[in-house]
Amino acid sequence: MRSETINQGVDRLDTALRAHRDGDIAAAAAGYRAVLAENPADPDALNFLGLTQRQSGHVGSARAWLERACHACPEGVPARVNLATLCQDLGDLETAERHYRRALARAPNAVAALNNLGNALTDMDRPVEALALFDKALAHAGADERAEVHYNRHALVLDREGPAAAEAAIMESLAAVPTHRLARLQAAALAMARGAQAEAEEHLSRLAASGDAAPLLDSAVWLRPHLAAGARLLGTTIAGLAFALDRARLSGLVLEFGVRFGHSLRAIAARAGQPVHGFDTFTGLPGAWHGHAPGLYSTGGRLPWMPDGVTLHAGLFAETLPGMLAAHPDQPVRFANVDCDLYDSAADVLRVLAPRVVPGSVLAFDEFLINPGWQEDEFRAFHDAAARYRWRASVLGVSPFAKQAVLRIDAVGGAAGVG
Ligand SMILES: C[S@@+](CC[C@H](N)C(=O)[O-])C[C@H]1O[C@@H](n2cnc3c(N)ncnc32)[C@H](O)[C@@H]1O
Repeated sequence: MRSETINQGVDRLDTALRAHRDGDIAAAAAGYRAVLAENPADPDALNFLGLTQRQSGHVGSARAWLERACHACPEGVPARVNLATLCQDLGDLETAERHYRRALARAPNAVAALNNLGNALTDMDRPVEALALFDKALAHAGADERAEVHYNRHALVLDREGPAAAEAAIMESLAAVPTHRLARLQAAALAMARGAQAEAEEHLSRLAASGDAAPLLDSAVWLRPHLAAGARLLGTTIAGLAFALDRARLSGLVLEFGVRFGHSLRAIAARAGQPVHGFDTFTGLPGAWHGHAPGLYSTGGRLPWMPDGVTLHAGLFAETLPGMLAAHPDQPVRFANVDCDLYDSAADVLRVLAPRVVPGSVLAFDEFLINPGWQEDEFRAFHDAAARYRWRASVLGVSPFAKQAVLRIDAVGGAAGVG
C-alpha cells in the first residue's frame, strides 16, 4: 500500500515534469501541487513549483516555495541555486551570495552557481573575485555554459584590459555557441568601436538570422553613430558609473534614482568624493513593468546600509525630490544615475530636475537599450525631456552588456538633440 502511494507520487511528478518541459506551466503547477498534497515536503515538487511561479511572474510566491524546498532538503543543490538566482534577479545580492556559497560547498564545480555568483560579485564591485569564479566555471563548463561564462567574463575584461582582450573573450563565447545573440551583438559593437563597419554588419546579419532579435538589432542601429563618433564602449554597470563620475566635473549634486539594496549607490559614493543622495520608495516599482506587477524590487520597506556621506530619501521621486532640491538651492546636477526602469518614474525625475540640469551635467541610465520595448522606457523619457527642455546632449559611453548609457548635457535652451 505504502509503495503504491510512492509510485503514484513518482508518476505524478513525471507527468508534471513532462507538462513543464512542454511549456504547459499551469498543468505543471497543478501536478506539483498534487504531489505536495500527498507529500508536503517533496523537495523536487517544491523546487519545480517554485520555478513555475517564477515563470508566471509571481516572484514572492516563487521565493516562498524555493525556501520551503531548501528547508525540506537543506543540502540540495538545485533548489538552493534556484533560490539564489531569484534573490540575485531581485537585487538581493548578499542573500544570493549566501545561497550560492552554500550550494558550492556541496558542489564546488557547479557551473551555474559559479557563473551566477561571478555576476553577483561583479555587481557588488568585487571584480577580482568575480573573475576567479568565471575562470573556475570555464574549467568545468560544457559548450552552452562556456558561451555564457565567456560572455559574462568579457565585460570585466573590457573594463580592465580593453577592447582587444574583450573581443577575444567574445569570440570564445561565439565559438562555443555561434547563435549566442548578446555575444553576437557585442561582437558587432566591438567591431563598430574600432571602425570595422563591414565586420560589424557581418555580425549583425548573423544576429538577424538567429531570429527573435529585433530589440538587439534596433539597439545596434542606435549604437552605430554614437560609437562611430567616439562614445566609449563600456562593460559592467559599476565601471560605467566610475566612467560617468570621472567625466562629471561640475561642482554640484550627485544623485541616484532607484537604489533598491544600494549596490550601485555604494559604488557611486565610493567614487564621488562628495555627499550623495539616493531616492527610492523601497517598496518597489510603483507601476507594472513589462509583465511584472507593481512592487517588483521591493526591499520590504527597509533602507539599505550606506556609508557616511549618503542620504537616503524614501518615497516617490515626485514627492521627495522637490524638498531635497529646495534644501540645496542653486546647486546644479553634477551627476545623476537614473535606474528606475519605468517611463513615468524617469519622466518625473527629469521634469523635477530640469531646472538644475546645465551644460556639463552627466546623466547615466541603466535600462536604456537592449530590453524588449527599450525605446518606451528610460530612453523615451530622456528623449522627451531633451525635446521639452531643449537639451543638446552627447553620448559619452554605452554598455550593451549592462544596458547602460552615459550622456552629457552640452547645451540647454537651443536646438535639442542627442549627437
Ligand atoms: C532596478 S531597481 C534599482 C537598482 C539599484 N540601482 C541597484 O544597484 O540595485 C529600480 C528601483 O527604482 C525604484 N523606483 C522606481 N520608480 C520609482 C519612483 N517613482 N519613486 C521612487 N522609487 C522608484 C524601485 O523601488 C526600485 O527599487
